[in-house]
Amino acid sequence: MNAPFKLGMNVARDMFQAYACDDNSFSIIRSVAVEMGWEAERVYKGGLRNAVQSLSVAASPQILFVDMSESIDPLADINSLAEVCEPGTIVIACGQVNDVRLYRDLLASGIQDYLLKPLNTDHVRDALSAAQAAFLAPRQDSGEAHTHVATAVIGVRGGVGASTFATSLAWLLSEQSDRTTAFLDLDLHFGTGALTLDLEPGRGLIDAIENPSRIDGLFIERAMVRASDKLAILSAEAPIHQPMLTDGGAFHQLEEEFRNVFECSVVDMPRHMLIQFPQLMADFNVVVVVTEITLAAARDTIRLLSWLRANAPHAKVVVVADKAQTNALEISRKDFEQSIERKIDVVLPYDMRLAAQAAKLGKPLAEVAKNSKLGQAYASAVGHILDAVDDEEGMASKKGGSLMAKLGDLKGMIPKRGDKKAQQDAN
Ligand SMILES: Nc1ncnc2c1ncn2[C@@H]1O[C@H](COP(=O)(O)OP(=O)(O)OP(=O)(O)O)[C@@H](O)[C@H]1O
Ligand SMILES: [Mg+2]
Repeated sequence: MNAPFKLGMNVARDMFQAYACDDNSFSIIRSVAVEMGWEAERVYKGGLRNAVQSLSVAASPQILFVDMSESIDPLADINSLAEVCEPGTIVIACGQVNDVRLYRDLLASGIQDYLLKPLNTDHVRDALSAAQAAFLAPRQDSGEAHTHVATAVIGVRGGVGASTFATSLAWLLSEQSDRTTAFLDLDLHFGTGALTLDLEPGRGLIDAIENPSRIDGLFIERAMVRASDKLAILSAEAPIHQPMLTDGGAFHQLEEEFRNVFECSVVDMPRHMLIQFPQLMADFNVVVVVTEITLAAARDTIRLLSWLRANAPHAKVVVVADKAQTNALEISRKDFEQSIERKIDVVLPYDMRLAAQAAKLGKPLAEVAKNSKLGQAYASAVGHILDAVDDEEGMASKKGGSLMAKLGDLKGMIPKRGDKKAQQDAN
């Protein structure tokens, strides 16, 4: 893809539009668009000129298919199209001219592909799938490479806030820490990963479980739902009348691919998945144990920490106490820490108002909480996680930069090491 059709997304735009000159092209494009899950009504009669006219008064789609067979000067018309298209539009053209020079010129002007007419269903499908893959492909940073940070988030008991934390962590890593991030919600039947981000889960994760052998880089690009240009998610709303049959191989395979494609991955790992597939723990370098400061949670934190020592001795464990309230504690923080025989790393204050606001807006809690004590505590959690990986791998010296340099990525949200004030405030 060359300029001018390059980068930029996140605008409310149609996923797909097509402009076809003849009936045959019209019906082929329409049927493939429907297969791809796109709206059939977005395939219009008319060619490149019509596309330029329509798009001069409306937002361009993410993927645009244009028929230029009625165009006398295709290159000039493509340039007019570029002027009315938003940056990031992926354009596929078709026409009747079989000339390699034209093909090269079109590619040079930023067209993704050129198909020769008469159109054929398979070719159109391949071109649109490739366009979708290009649209979903994570944009790689030209800057420094980061070691992959693979984090599993586990709640010690139901409802402690593990999923809220997991989606917020994925959002913070992608937005504030500026790292390409994959989010995998392994609560297959009741997961809220997609819902929290106001997205449809799609079929990607179910497909992965049903056909683990198909999981590769291309599958990742096609199957993941993009929340932003740095964050892609994989989740499901599996039918609740049937169990999902899997030996866990698909999840391991997914994590392998995440390592190749993304800088970070965050997995919402329900406790029953942990019991069923303990071998998955080998894939993570950080495990976040989300707990709350109650007696029952103390008991289960002890059990989980002990389980992790046996099953994930390599992983750095970060203990996060969520929904902390200043009064009405059935156990004090000090007694809690004594009984679990370690410190709580981060305390996230209970904030009903922000939690409700996040749910209503379909945004991660950390985003809505940005300028609050809760937001500061969230940022501190990200610091702990990145810190854990750097300590483990000696990354600070390898990258010639300190942890503080990286925390700088978080736009000043994270309290400095040793500066406990923000954390105390949050507590
Ligand atoms: N810091 C917080 N303050 C107030 N409410 C919160 C906070 N964190 C999470 N919540 C709320 O707690 C509820 C449960 O959160 P969540 O679904 O993340 O828990 P969970 O541990 O994943 O639960 P499950 O065991 O069902 O997977 C949600 O309604 C969420 O908005
Ligand atoms: Mg959950």
